[in-house]
Amino acid sequence: MHKKLFIPGPVEVHPEILAAMATPMVGHRMKEYAQLHGRAKSKLKTLLGTEGKVYLATSSAFGVMEGAVRNLVGTRCANFCNGAFSDKWHDVTLRCGKQADAIRFDWGKPVTPEAVEQALASGKYDSMTMIHNETSTGVMSPLGEIAEVMRKFPEVMFIVDTVSSMSAVNIPVDTLGIDCCIFGVQKALALPPGLAIFTASEKALKRASTIEGRGYYFDFLEFDANDAKDNTPSTPCISQIYALDCQLDRMFAEGLELRWARHQALADYVRGWLAERGFGLFPEAQFCSQTLTCARNSRGIDLALLKKKLDESGFAFDDGYGKIKGQTFRIAHMGDMTHSDLDELFAAMITIMPELA
Ligand SMILES: Cc1ncc(COP(=O)(O)O)c(C=O)c1O
Repeated sequence: MHKKLFIPGPVEVHPEILAAMATPMVGHRMKEYAQLHGRAKSKLKTLLGTEGKVYLATSSAFGVMEGAVRNLVGTRCANFCNGAFSDKWHDVTLRCGKQADAIRFDWGKPVTPEAVEQALASGKYDSMTMIHNETSTGVMSPLGEIAEVMRKFPEVMFIVDTVSSMSAVNIPVDTLGIDCCIFGVQKALALPPGLAIFTASEKALKRASTIEGRGYYFDFLEFDANDAKDNTPSTPCISQIYALDCQLDRMFAEGLELRWARHQALADYVRGWLAERGFGLFPEAQFCSQTLTCARNSRGIDLALLKKKLDESGFAFDDGYGKIKGQTFRIAHMGDMTHSDLDELFAAMITIMPELA
């Protein structure tokens, strides 16, 4: 039995995408691949609002998150940490042998422009990392305001994970001045996992050229050399790139603004449903993510039992991440999801726990 995914990634993949993945194979040094790569890249530039470089890497997001640290951190990195994935990015930065500090916020809180300004004003850092949408806590940090602060520190690399927000929210990379924007595809893009996408500004490429120990697989300069030929340093996940090309067409057919509005409407719908039933939100309302809702288990329901029963009924449900497991639960509303998908989940929850009616 297929279990319908309401977890925050991977998410449901549309049958048209699965069909695109079955496109007969081509070799990555054939002109057919270069045509596919070039096509996907130019559509990505529209989605990302960038005229700069966009690269395709065959890995999950953390491959490039590690790569960004190896390529861009020279003297010292400020890792802004407000949840499980940003905590892990700090750990990865240290494991890459870089000097770094974690600037921590309580889980459920956003990264603030004030904290960014205060940390960078110390003059200690030549790079910073942050996660736009902390999937572990359902918090979306105010990227536009942080980008304003970053303008005061042009020597600091602005490295942003948009893993669970890109395409569900407008993130105009050039306007925001992001030097390296990184995301995977199994969340808001609703593709099968295995492909990561990233940008690198001129400033980022220049910095990379001064850094030793970039390695090979995620060496930004290798990506850049191959980009000129619409290609990748190593054999890419070609089936996924067919899927990406197809999904980008589907996004433009929906209309980007309508897509962003759909995600906001779904977020409001989930929060309304939860509020009517007495569940609070884990983040403050103004920092709630547009792609998933992290609810407090205010009614003390048996989340493990709910998850088990939903699983038996054909639904994958998330009962919280890491240290807030059991106290919170997360409902994803990203990718191609619609109101009727959510209604199916809500009906199943009520069947299992009639007190939620
Ligand atoms: C915000 C965020 N960053 C990074 C990751 C890690 O992505 P991956 O497992 O694709 O490497 C995740 C995964 O859930 C995430 O939500």
